[in-house]
Amino acid sequence: MYSRIAGTGSYLPERVVTNQELEATVDTTDEWIRTRTGIEQRHIAADDEMTSDLAYHASLAAMDAAGVAPHEIDMIVVGTCTPDLVFPNVACLLQERLGIGGGPAFSVEAACSGFMYAFSVADQFIRTGTVRRALVVGAETMSRIVDWTDRETCVLFGDGAGAVVIEASEEPGTIYSVLGADGKYKNMLYAEMGISKKSTVPDASFIRMNGNDVFKMAVRTLERMVDQVIEENDIKQGDIDWFVPHQANLRIINATAKRLKIPMERVVLTVAQHGNTSAASVPMALDTAVQDGRIKRGDLLLLEAFGGGFTWGASLIRY
Ligand code: ACO
Repeated sequence: MYSRIAGTGSYLPERVVTNQELEATVDTTDEWIRTRTGIEQRHIAADDEMTSDLAYHASLAAMDAAGVAPHEIDMIVVGTCTPDLVFPNVACLLQERLGIGGGPAFSVEAACSGFMYAFSVADQFIRTGTVRRALVVGAETMSRIVDWTDRETCVLFGDGAGAVVIEASEEPGTIYSVLGADGKYKNMLYAEMGISKKSTVPDASFIRMNGNDVFKMAVRTLERMVDQVIEENDIKQGDIDWFVPHQANLRIINATAKRLKIPMERVVLTVAQHGNTSAASVPMALDTAVQDGRIKRGDLLLLEAFGGGFTWGASLIRY
Protein backbone atom coordinates (compact mmCIF):
# COMPACT_ATOMS: atom_id res chain seq x y z
CA MET A 1 0.00 0.00 0.00
CA TYR A 2 1.17 3.52 -0.83
CA SER A 3 -0.15 7.03 -0.30
CA ARG A 4 -0.86 9.31 -3.23
CA ILE A 5 -1.75 12.99 -3.37
CA ALA A 6 -5.44 13.34 -4.26
CA GLY A 7 -5.61 17.15 -4.08
CA THR A 8 -3.71 20.27 -3.05
CA GLY A 9 -4.78 23.68 -1.74
CA SER A 10 -3.31 26.83 -0.30
CA TYR A 11 -4.29 30.09 1.30
CA LEU A 12 -2.55 33.42 1.68
CA PRO A 13 -3.72 36.24 3.95
CA GLU A 14 -4.89 39.31 2.06
CA ARG A 15 -2.38 41.85 3.31
CA VAL A 16 0.82 42.11 1.25
CA VAL A 17 3.92 43.81 2.68
CA THR A 18 6.44 44.76 0.01
CA ASN A 19 10.17 45.27 0.48
CA GLN A 20 9.56 48.98 -0.17
CA GLU A 21 7.21 49.10 2.81
CA LEU A 22 9.91 47.59 5.03
CA GLU A 23 12.39 50.23 3.83
CA ALA A 24 10.22 52.74 5.70
CA THR A 25 10.43 50.89 9.03
CA VAL A 26 13.89 49.24 9.21
CA ASP A 27 17.33 50.08 7.82
CA THR A 28 17.13 47.94 4.68
CA THR A 29 16.65 48.24 0.93
CA ASP A 30 14.58 46.41 -1.63
CA GLU A 31 17.83 45.77 -3.51
CA TRP A 32 19.51 44.11 -0.45
CA ILE A 33 16.52 41.88 0.21
CA ARG A 34 16.12 40.83 -3.44
CA THR A 35 19.78 40.11 -4.08
CA ARG A 36 20.43 38.27 -0.77
CA THR A 37 17.18 36.32 -0.57
CA GLY A 38 15.09 36.60 -3.75
CA ILE A 39 12.14 37.88 -1.67
CA GLU A 40 10.03 40.75 -3.07
CA GLN A 41 6.99 40.64 -0.82
CA ARG A 42 5.27 38.56 1.86
CA HIS A 43 1.66 38.09 3.05
CA ILE A 44 0.83 38.95 6.66
CA ALA A 45 -2.18 37.63 8.61
CA ALA A 46 -4.71 40.08 10.05
CA ASP A 47 -4.71 40.48 13.85
CA ASP A 48 -7.81 38.31 14.17
CA GLU A 49 -6.55 35.66 11.72
CA MET A 50 -4.93 32.64 13.40
CA THR A 51 -2.87 29.76 12.05
CA SER A 52 -5.95 27.50 12.20
CA ASP A 53 -7.90 29.99 10.05
CA LEU A 54 -5.22 29.88 7.34
CA ALA A 55 -5.12 26.08 7.65
CA TYR A 56 -8.91 25.89 7.32
CA HIS A 57 -9.02 27.78 4.00
CA ALA A 58 -6.11 25.79 2.54
CA SER A 59 -7.77 22.53 3.67
CA LEU A 60 -11.10 23.41 2.02
CA ALA A 61 -9.25 24.06 -1.25
CA ALA A 62 -7.33 20.76 -1.00
CA MET A 63 -10.48 18.75 -0.23
CA ASP A 64 -12.28 20.46 -3.09
CA ALA A 65 -9.43 19.57 -5.48
CA ALA A 66 -9.47 15.97 -4.21
CA GLY A 67 -13.26 15.77 -4.50
CA VAL A 68 -13.64 14.60 -0.90
CA ALA A 69 -15.96 15.80 1.84
CA PRO A 70 -14.69 16.54 5.39
CA HIS A 71 -16.30 13.38 6.81
CA GLU A 72 -14.15 11.31 4.41
CA ILE A 73 -10.95 12.50 6.15
CA ASP A 74 -9.67 9.87 8.62
CA MET A 75 -6.78 11.83 10.12
CA ILE A 76 -5.37 15.37 10.27
CA VAL A 77 -1.68 16.20 10.74
CA VAL A 78 -0.56 19.83 10.84
CA GLY A 79 3.04 21.03 10.65
CA THR A 80 3.40 24.34 12.47
CA CYS A 81 5.66 26.16 14.90
CA THR A 82 3.16 29.00 15.38
CA PRO A 83 0.05 27.28 16.82
CA ASP A 84 -2.99 29.32 17.90
CA LEU A 85 -2.74 27.89 21.44
CA VAL A 86 -0.59 25.61 23.60
CA PHE A 87 -3.52 23.20 23.29
CA PRO A 88 -5.80 22.11 21.74
CA ASN A 89 -3.41 21.62 18.85
CA VAL A 90 -4.08 23.26 15.47
CA ALA A 91 -5.22 19.95 13.93
CA CYS A 92 -7.97 19.64 16.58
CA LEU A 93 -9.05 23.26 16.01
CA LEU A 94 -9.13 22.54 12.29
CA GLN A 95 -11.07 19.32 12.83
CA GLU A 96 -13.73 21.25 14.76
CA ARG A 97 -13.94 23.92 12.02
CA LEU A 98 -14.42 21.18 9.42
CA GLY A 99 -17.22 19.67 11.49
CA ILE A 100 -15.61 16.26 11.83
CA GLY A 101 -14.30 14.24 14.76
CA GLY A 102 -13.22 10.84 15.94
CA GLY A 103 -10.01 10.33 13.96
CA PRO A 104 -6.56 11.31 15.19
CA ALA A 105 -5.65 14.99 14.85
CA PHE A 106 -2.27 16.26 15.95
CA SER A 107 0.42 18.80 15.16
CA VAL A 108 4.09 18.23 14.42
CA GLU A 109 6.64 20.88 15.37
CA ALA A 110 9.77 20.82 13.23
CA ALA A 111 9.98 24.53 12.27
CA CYS A 112 10.44 24.94 8.50
CA SER A 113 10.55 21.15 8.02
CA GLY A 114 7.15 20.78 9.72
CA PHE A 115 5.25 19.89 6.55
CA MET A 116 7.83 17.29 5.46
CA TYR A 117 7.59 15.69 8.92
CA ALA A 118 3.75 15.80 8.89
CA PHE A 119 3.65 14.37 5.36
CA SER A 120 5.99 11.49 6.19
CA VAL A 121 4.04 10.63 9.36
CA ALA A 122 0.72 10.60 7.49
CA ASP A 123 2.25 8.57 4.65
CA GLN A 124 3.30 5.92 7.16
CA PHE A 125 -0.18 5.76 8.72
CA ILE A 126 -1.54 5.07 5.23
CA ARG A 127 1.17 2.53 4.32
CA THR A 128 0.41 0.51 7.43
CA GLY A 129 -3.31 0.56 6.61
CA THR A 130 -4.17 2.45 9.82
CA VAL A 131 -6.05 5.17 7.89
CA ARG A 132 -7.19 5.46 4.28
CA ARG A 133 -7.24 9.22 3.84
CA ALA A 134 -5.36 12.02 5.59
CA LEU A 135 -5.36 15.79 5.46
CA VAL A 136 -1.79 17.09 5.81
CA VAL A 137 -1.29 20.81 6.37
CA GLY A 138 1.59 23.25 6.77
CA ALA A 139 0.33 26.50 8.30
CA GLU A 140 2.13 29.41 9.93
CA THR A 141 1.71 32.92 11.25
CA MET A 142 5.45 33.65 11.40
CA SER A 143 4.67 37.38 11.58
CA ARG A 144 3.66 36.82 15.24
CA ILE A 145 7.18 35.70 16.22
CA VAL A 146 9.12 38.14 14.06
CA ASP A 147 10.81 41.14 15.64
CA TRP A 148 9.69 43.84 13.21
CA THR A 149 12.58 46.07 14.35
CA ASP A 150 15.26 43.45 13.51
CA ARG A 151 16.27 43.88 9.86
CA GLU A 152 18.19 40.60 9.89
CA THR A 153 15.03 38.51 10.35
CA CYS A 154 11.93 40.62 9.65
CA VAL A 155 12.61 40.83 5.92
CA LEU A 156 12.61 37.03 5.59
CA PHE A 157 9.31 35.67 6.87
CA GLY A 158 5.66 35.58 5.82
CA ASP A 159 2.34 33.88 6.68
CA GLY A 160 0.27 31.31 4.80
CA ALA A 161 -0.96 27.73 4.64
CA GLY A 162 -0.81 24.83 2.23
CA ALA A 163 -2.62 21.50 2.42
CA VAL A 164 -2.75 18.14 0.68
CA VAL A 165 -5.22 15.27 0.86
CA ILE A 166 -3.39 11.96 0.61
CA GLU A 167 -5.11 8.62 0.23
CA ALA A 168 -4.35 4.92 0.01
CA SER A 169 -3.34 3.67 -3.42
CA GLU A 170 -1.93 0.47 -4.84
CA GLU A 171 0.45 2.50 -7.01
CA PRO A 172 2.96 5.03 -5.66
CA GLY A 173 2.36 7.84 -4.81
CA THR A 174 4.96 8.54 -2.29
CA ILE A 175 7.99 6.51 -3.27
CA TYR A 176 10.47 7.49 -0.59
CA SER A 177 10.76 9.85 2.39
CA VAL A 178 13.71 10.80 4.56
CA LEU A 179 13.70 12.83 7.79
CA GLY A 180 16.58 14.00 9.94
CA ALA A 181 17.51 16.31 12.80
CA ASP A 182 20.53 17.51 14.73
CA GLY A 183 19.80 19.28 18.01
CA LYS A 184 23.35 20.42 18.63
CA TYR A 185 22.81 23.48 16.43
CA LYS A 186 19.90 24.73 18.55
CA ASN A 187 21.63 28.06 19.22
CA MET A 188 21.87 29.02 15.54
CA LEU A 189 18.12 29.38 15.06
CA TYR A 190 15.54 29.56 17.83
CA ALA A 191 12.66 31.39 19.47
CA GLU A 192 13.35 31.45 23.20
CA MET A 193 9.81 31.75 24.58
CA GLY A 194 8.88 28.56 26.39
CA ILE A 195 6.11 27.05 28.45
CA SER A 196 8.07 24.99 30.99
CA LYS A 197 11.11 27.21 30.44
CA LYS A 198 10.34 30.63 31.87
CA SER A 199 12.54 32.87 29.80
CA THR A 200 13.93 36.06 31.34
CA VAL A 201 14.98 37.38 27.93
CA PRO A 202 12.88 40.35 26.80
CA ASP A 203 10.86 39.67 23.66
CA ALA A 204 11.65 35.96 24.03
CA SER A 205 9.07 34.93 21.44
CA PHE A 206 11.07 36.43 18.59
CA ILE A 207 13.04 34.41 16.05
CA ARG A 208 16.77 34.67 16.63
CA MET A 209 19.05 33.48 13.87
CA ASN A 210 22.69 33.46 12.98
CA GLY A 211 21.78 33.84 9.29
CA ASN A 212 25.20 33.23 7.83
CA ASP A 213 25.83 29.98 9.74
CA VAL A 214 22.27 28.77 9.10
CA PHE A 215 22.79 29.47 5.41
CA LYS A 216 25.93 27.31 5.26
CA MET A 217 24.34 24.48 7.29
CA ALA A 218 21.20 24.58 5.11
CA VAL A 219 23.21 24.28 1.88
CA ARG A 220 25.45 21.50 3.24
CA THR A 221 22.60 19.48 4.75
CA LEU A 222 20.32 19.80 1.73
CA GLU A 223 23.14 18.75 -0.60
CA ARG A 224 23.79 15.68 1.56
CA MET A 225 20.08 14.87 1.65
CA VAL A 226 19.53 15.15 -2.11
CA ASP A 227 22.64 12.97 -2.68
CA GLN A 228 20.98 10.35 -0.45
CA VAL A 229 17.66 10.57 -2.34
CA ILE A 230 19.49 10.23 -5.68
CA GLU A 231 21.61 7.26 -4.54
CA GLU A 232 18.90 5.31 -2.74
CA ASN A 233 16.40 5.68 -5.59
CA ASP A 234 18.85 5.38 -8.49
CA ILE A 235 17.73 8.75 -9.88
CA LYS A 236 19.32 9.78 -13.17
CA GLN A 237 19.69 13.32 -14.43
CA GLY A 238 16.38 14.38 -15.99
CA ASP A 239 14.27 11.87 -14.01
CA ILE A 240 12.86 14.49 -11.65
CA ASP A 241 10.22 16.60 -13.40
CA TRP A 242 9.74 19.20 -10.65
CA PHE A 243 11.83 20.19 -7.65
CA VAL A 244 9.62 21.75 -4.94
CA PRO A 245 11.97 23.10 -2.26
CA HIS A 246 11.37 24.97 0.99
CA GLN A 247 11.35 28.65 0.08
CA ALA A 248 13.79 30.27 2.53
CA ASN A 249 16.30 31.86 0.20
CA LEU A 250 16.75 31.76 -3.57
CA ARG A 251 20.51 31.26 -3.16
CA ILE A 252 19.96 28.12 -1.03
CA ILE A 253 17.49 26.80 -3.65
CA ASN A 254 19.98 27.54 -6.47
CA ALA A 255 22.72 25.59 -4.68
CA THR A 256 20.48 22.56 -4.10
CA ALA A 257 19.15 22.61 -7.68
CA LYS A 258 22.74 22.67 -8.94
CA ARG A 259 23.55 19.62 -6.82
CA LEU A 260 20.47 17.86 -8.24
CA LYS A 261 21.60 18.90 -11.74
CA ILE A 262 18.08 20.17 -12.36
CA PRO A 263 17.59 23.34 -14.47
CA MET A 264 15.96 26.30 -12.68
CA GLU A 265 13.00 26.10 -15.14
CA ARG A 266 12.13 22.82 -13.37
CA VAL A 267 12.22 24.35 -9.88
CA VAL A 268 9.01 25.72 -8.35
CA LEU A 269 9.76 29.16 -6.92
CA THR A 270 7.40 31.15 -4.72
CA VAL A 271 9.97 32.78 -2.46
CA ALA A 272 9.64 36.14 -4.27
CA GLN A 273 5.91 36.39 -3.53
CA HIS A 274 5.63 34.48 -0.22
CA GLY A 275 8.96 34.92 1.61
CA ASN A 276 9.81 32.15 4.07
CA THR A 277 6.51 30.79 5.39
CA SER A 278 8.22 27.97 7.32
CA ALA A 279 6.10 24.78 7.31
CA ALA A 280 3.61 26.31 4.85
CA SER A 281 6.16 26.93 2.12
CA VAL A 282 6.45 23.48 0.47
CA PRO A 283 2.70 22.72 0.23
CA MET A 284 2.01 26.29 -1.00
CA ALA A 285 4.70 25.96 -3.69
CA LEU A 286 3.32 22.54 -4.66
CA ASP A 287 -0.22 23.90 -4.95
CA THR A 288 0.99 26.91 -6.98
CA ALA A 289 2.54 24.66 -9.64
CA VAL A 290 -0.44 22.25 -9.63
CA GLN A 291 -2.90 25.15 -10.06
CA ASP A 292 -0.99 26.80 -12.91
CA GLY A 293 -0.72 23.47 -14.74
CA ARG A 294 3.05 22.96 -14.55
CA ILE A 295 2.80 19.86 -12.34
CA LYS A 296 0.79 17.15 -14.08
CA ARG A 297 -0.38 13.67 -13.08
CA GLY A 298 2.48 11.19 -13.48
CA ASP A 299 5.25 13.77 -12.90
CA LEU A 300 8.07 12.83 -10.53
CA LEU A 301 8.46 15.43 -7.76
CA LEU A 302 11.10 16.00 -5.12
CA LEU A 303 9.92 17.98 -2.09
CA GLU A 304 12.42 19.07 0.59
CA ALA A 305 12.86 21.38 3.57
CA PHE A 306 15.40 22.45 6.17
CA GLY A 307 14.64 24.38 9.34
CA GLY A 308 15.18 25.16 13.01
CA GLY A 309 16.25 22.31 15.22
CA PHE A 310 18.01 21.71 12.90
CA THR A 311 15.49 19.51 11.13
CA TRP A 312 15.26 18.40 7.52
CA GLY A 313 13.19 16.14 5.31
CA ALA A 314 12.44 15.17 1.71
CA SER A 315 9.90 13.10 -0.19
CA LEU A 316 10.05 11.65 -3.69
CA ILE A 317 6.54 11.53 -5.11
CA ARG A 318 4.91 10.33 -8.32
CA TYR A 319 2.11 12.92 -8.57
N1 ACO B 1 19.12 44.95 5.02
C1 ACO B 1 20.34 45.45 4.84
N2 ACO B 1 21.47 44.94 5.38
C2 ACO B 1 21.32 43.83 6.12
C3 ACO B 1 20.06 43.25 6.38
C4 ACO B 1 18.94 43.85 5.79
N3 ACO B 1 17.70 43.37 5.94
N4 ACO B 1 20.23 42.16 7.15
C5 ACO B 1 21.54 42.06 7.40
N5 ACO B 1 22.21 43.07 6.79
C6 ACO B 1 23.63 43.33 6.78
C7 ACO B 1 24.36 42.68 7.92
O1 ACO B 1 24.28 43.46 9.09
C8 ACO B 1 25.77 42.59 7.37
O2 ACO B 1 26.39 43.85 7.51
P1 ACO B 1 27.97 43.98 7.83
O3 ACO B 1 28.65 43.31 6.66
O4 ACO B 1 28.17 45.43 7.92
O5 ACO B 1 28.16 43.21 9.12
C9 ACO B 1 25.56 42.34 5.88
O6 ACO B 1 24.21 42.77 5.61
C10 ACO B 1 25.72 40.90 5.45
O7 ACO B 1 25.04 40.06 6.38
P2 ACO B 1 25.06 38.50 6.26
O8 ACO B 1 24.29 37.92 7.40
O9 ACO B 1 26.46 38.05 6.04
O10 ACO B 1 24.25 38.30 4.90
P3 ACO B 1 23.97 36.97 4.15
O11 ACO B 1 24.46 37.10 2.77
O12 ACO B 1 24.36 35.75 4.93
O13 ACO B 1 22.37 36.97 4.08
C11 ACO B 1 20.48 35.91 5.16
C12 ACO B 1 21.62 36.95 5.26
C13 ACO B 1 19.56 36.35 4.03
C14 ACO B 1 19.72 35.87 6.47
C15 ACO B 1 21.07 34.53 4.82
O14 ACO B 1 22.15 34.26 5.66
C16 ACO B 1 20.06 33.41 4.94
O15 ACO B 1 19.17 33.27 4.13
N6 ACO B 1 20.23 32.51 5.92
C17 ACO B 1 19.43 31.29 6.02
C18 ACO B 1 18.02 31.52 6.48
C19 ACO B 1 17.31 30.19 6.56
O16 ACO B 1 17.35 29.38 5.65
N7 ACO B 1 16.69 29.87 7.67
C20 ACO B 1 16.20 28.50 7.85
C21 ACO B 1 14.80 28.38 7.94
S1 ACO B 1 14.05 29.43 9.14
C22 ACO B 1 13.19 28.40 10.24
O17 ACO B 1 13.44 27.25 10.36
C23 ACO B 1 12.16 29.04 11.15
